[in-house]
Amino acid sequence: MRKVGVLVSGRGSNLQAIMDRIADGYLPLEIAVVISDKSDAYALERAQKAGIKAAAIERKACASKDDFEAKINAALTDAGCELVVLAGFMRILSANFVNKWHHKIINIHPALLPSFPGLHGQGQAVAYGVKFSGCTVHFVDEGTDSGPIILQKVVPVMDDDTEDTLADRILVQEHIAMPEALKLWAEDKLVINGRKVKVLA
Ligand code: GRF
Repeated sequence: MRKVGVLVSGRGSNLQAIMDRIADGYLPLEIAVVISDKSDAYALERAQKAGIKAAAIERKACASKDDFEAKINAALTDAGCELVVLAGFMRILSANFVNKWHHKIINIHPALLPSFPGLHGQGQAVAYGVKFSGCTVHFVDEGTDSGPIILQKVVPVMDDDTEDTLADRILVQEHIAMPEALKLWAEDKLVINGRKVKVLA
């Protein structure tokens, strides 16, 4: 089984979706380690309950950003990870880290990129007045939410939506999209050519 590491910062519902789809046999993967930059993240508890190795690596406990990322890199490498999954990891990784894991980091963003990158993608969509939004699973490059797109899921935006109601609707799709993208990766069905990701049949 190919091993992945999952980076988290908070409640970990996307982590849970991945774990559930591994448990039910859909996803041919092993989560070798879960790393949180917050020691109180509920995601860590979810991992521990599932018997997955989990650790907190906090930025404030590290001398520098380089040191912080070196520790994350070491934890991923020690666990034998081939891929890094960002599942609600709320920090921007440096170009140095991203280049070490070139085309081996996958992120999920709660908007239809390239619209509404960065924080509060759902709130940005409501404020802009778009009629549809959704989520995007993509490879990570040196920019913010700018790497090659693997897949997207679309949801309607309702007139009375708030950031929270839209976020809830998008989250349902995130929990489908991330396992789907990881399955394609695990089965070697993703071919990256510049900005474009071709999905093999
Ligand atoms: C998700 O909306 C994800 O798209 C965003 O942060 C949120 C994380 O949620 N990057 P969870 O921790 O997976 O529940």
